[in-house]
This record gives sequence, C-alpha cells and structure tokens, in this order.
Amino acid sequence: MAKFPENLSAMKGFLSADEGETLYKTAEMASKLGPILEIGSYCGKSTIYLALGCRENNKIVFTIDHHKGSEEHQIGDSFHDTDLVNPQTGEIDSFAEFRKNISSAGVEDNIVPIVAKSTVVANVWQIPLAMVFIDGGHSLQAALTDYRSWSKFLLRGGFLAIHDVFEAPEKGGQAPRAIHDLAINSGLFLPHMEVDSLRVLQRL
Ligand SMILES: C[S@@+](CC[C@H](N)C(=O)[O-])C[C@H]1O[C@@H](n2cnc3c(N)ncnc32)[C@H](O)[C@@H]1O
Repeated sequence: MAKFPENLSAMKGFLSADEGETLYKTAEMASKLGPILEIGSYCGKSTIYLALGCRENNKIVFTIDHHKGSEEHQIGDSFHDTDLVNPQTGEIDSFAEFRKNISSAGVEDNIVPIVAKSTVVANVWQIPLAMVFIDGGHSLQAALTDYRSWSKFLLRGGFLAIHDVFEAPEKGGQAPRAIHDLAINSGLFLPHMEVDSLRVLQRL
C-alpha cells in the first residue's frame, strides 16, 4: 500500500479519504491490465490517488478536463471556489492548481493531463482502457455522454468507477446514478465495490 502524501486529504476536491483509497486500490489492480482514464481532473485529488495506484505497476492515468469547471462550480453556484477564478479572465481555471498538486505529490510521470472537452477526446480515442473513472459534468446529458463515449473502451475484466451515486434524490443529483443503473442493466457490468458515493463496477 502506498503512503499517501500528507497534504492529499487537504487538497481541493470532492472525494472522501475512503473513496480515494478505493480509487487507489482499483487503479493498482487495473493498471496491470492497461491504462486508466479519468474524466474530471479538477484540482488533481482523484487523479493523484489513481496515479499512485498506476505507479505500483509503472503505468499511467490519462485525465481529461477543460478546467473551466462544471455547472455547479460557476460564479454564484453551490460549489464555486473563488480561489480558482483566473484574475485575467474572471473565469474558473483549475489547471494551475492541478499542476501544483500533481507536482507536490510527485506523480507527474504517471499522469497524462488532457485539457479538452471529454467529447472532443472521445471522438478520436482508440486505446483500450483497464479503468474509466467518470466524474465530469453532472447534468444528465453530460453523464450519459461520458458513459456512452467511454465505457465502450473498457477491456473485459476492466473497471468502471462512477462518483456521486446517490440513492436518495435529496442527497444529490441523480445523473451519476442513472448511468450506474444503465451500466448494471446493460448486463455488461457487475458491482465490484461501493464506498460512500463511489461505485466501482467490473466489465464482464
Ligand atoms: C466534480 S469535478 C471533478 C473532481 C475530481 N474528480 C476530484 O475528485 O478531485 C468535475 C470536473 O469535470 C470537469 N468537466 C465538466 N464537464 C466536462 C467536459 N464536458 N469535458 C471535460 N471536463 C469537464 C470540470 O471542469 C470539473 O473540473
């Protein structure tokens, strides 16, 4: 088991420590099969857990984010963070914080950041994946698009992880749950792990 960087739990992000540890363990297992891809790097917290798992096998995680924030990160919204506003543009830009964090965690050689919209990358993607972690846009359309665009690249035996899956609508938005249910009902995935709002499924 890796020793997690001391400042990891204090980094900006939305994962619990138990969810982070589960991402690490799944990435450690999956990266023996092939590369890992994350949608939604934000400030790098989840990326670092995934990269630490990859590092055990000398592998990498691709992580996609346009770094302009999701709907809920915009000015006036519930998860807006004023520290992430670029003073030159007046808009959210999480890339500088992401770079600072992955450098301080010492995992730059295990991470390939892709600064783009998820769909732009998916349209040209050709590499089979051992793990896909979906934590990008949380609207129904964004979550469905990510599920449809990326789950098809999973190798048999690979893992699909989805964050913010809430059974009760009062606990949180239902889009991640909708794609989780879609994956289960497709008959192509079995539940593997469940920690807080993180669900990990295995591709049959
Ligand atoms: C909930 S945050 C990710 C949190 C991160 N996984 C963590 O646990 O630390 C969602 C991120 O997805 C990004 N995002 C939203 N829609 C996107 C899209 N269509 N393409 C690329 N990135 C997107 C946002 O910029 C935001 O940084």
